[in-house]
Amino acid sequence: MSTQDAQSTPSKQGAPSEPSKQSTAITNIGLLVTNEAERPELENAALVIENGKVAWLGDSSKAPVADERIDAEGRCVIPGFVDSHSHLVFAGDRSDEFEARMTGQKYEAGGIRRTVRLTREASDAELEANTAKLVAEMRAQGTTTVEIKSGYGLTVADEERALRIAGKFTAETTYLGAHVVPTEFADDPAGYVDLVTGEMLEACAPHAKWIDVFCDRGAFDEDQARAILNAGKAKGLGLRMHGAQLGPSGAVRLAVELGAASVDHCTFLTDADVDALAASDTVATQLPGVEFSTRQPYPDARRLIEAGARVAIACDCNPGSSFTSSMPFCMAVAVRDMRMSPAEALWSATAGGAAALRRTDIGGLAVGQRADLVILDAPSYVHLAYRPGVPLIHRVLAAD
Ligand code: NIG
Ligand code: FE
Repeated sequence: MSTQDAQSTPSKQGAPSEPSKQSTAITNIGLLVTNEAERPELENAALVIENGKVAWLGDSSKAPVADERIDAEGRCVIPGFVDSHSHLVFAGDRSDEFEARMTGQKYEAGGIRRTVRLTREASDAELEANTAKLVAEMRAQGTTTVEIKSGYGLTVADEERALRIAGKFTAETTYLGAHVVPTEFADDPAGYVDLVTGEMLEACAPHAKWIDVFCDRGAFDEDQARAILNAGKAKGLGLRMHGAQLGPSGAVRLAVELGAASVDHCTFLTDADVDALAASDTVATQLPGVEFSTRQPYPDARRLIEAGARVAIACDCNPGSSFTSSMPFCMAVAVRDMRMSPAEALWSATAGGAAALRRTDIGGLAVGQRADLVILDAPSYVHLAYRPGVPLIHRVLAAD
């Protein structure tokens, strides 16, 4: 078991940063969230970690002896956040666009090209340092697993480079050559789709677990998205989609039809979209930071939950539409403005994110799951939404 304090900078998420202890017992946990179906929450609990996994949980007074003991002093312990959607490999700043939006301008997909220009100009070392800084910010705020997309390179070499850098920080890497059509292909979008599904896919697939496409106004249409996702699937990549961010479309139903693990944004959903998600294994990932930062209307997550869809919350950390790395912030917004209960928001930010990545080893603290957890400086996870903007992360433990 390796422990990692919130302040430390991980070289790679999950990599041990301290010598392994054989077993660690966390005792006097005021409230322990496991996300287990049978006992999702325990009071006055303890949890024992062995070899990076949860080995025992139960009443604190009955905790077995371990090599190391951490006294939680009544604090709440939750699973580490699983942030299933981020764009961390980029250079430059677009705070001027944010400022313009806050005074009335609209968000459009085209701003991506500005970051593409700056990212292409940046050195490998600069991009790696930028990514490391954001991953460390995330870790300090309780995130123990993050998915990272390419998508600001948009040439064969630049997309491959972004994925190589992403792979230094996470196993959850996503090829997003289909973010927008780059300027040099403005007159030949079909030619760019050929590149994305051909030579670029060939170069990127070895470095990626997933393929994603931005299927929306100003990006790729449904026929293009279908071709791109099918090409990725044929290369063994799992499917994800950016859909229904800027308006209603067939994107969500296409993602469901193709068996995508997740469709992300889901801001403008039709009843047919909600029904399709509810009847599927595709997770509906909500990105509250986007509506916050673009002044778009908040989607109604309660509508999805009540229909029976699985909902995840992620940050979508990127320089254009949502430059936050804070899962607690996103949870607070989801509770305040998207009609989620605090318990639902926590589930969506942990188990929901794990489901969006089709992972069962993370997102909960049942016996056998990875001991990725957060000790909150609060008696309950409700405080994450009740005390927005307050640093409540006491300690982060990440297993490997
Ligand atoms: O998830 N929707 C597409 N991509 C990002 C935005 C990226 C940008 O504006 O640079 C998103 O919101
Ligand atoms: Fe995104």
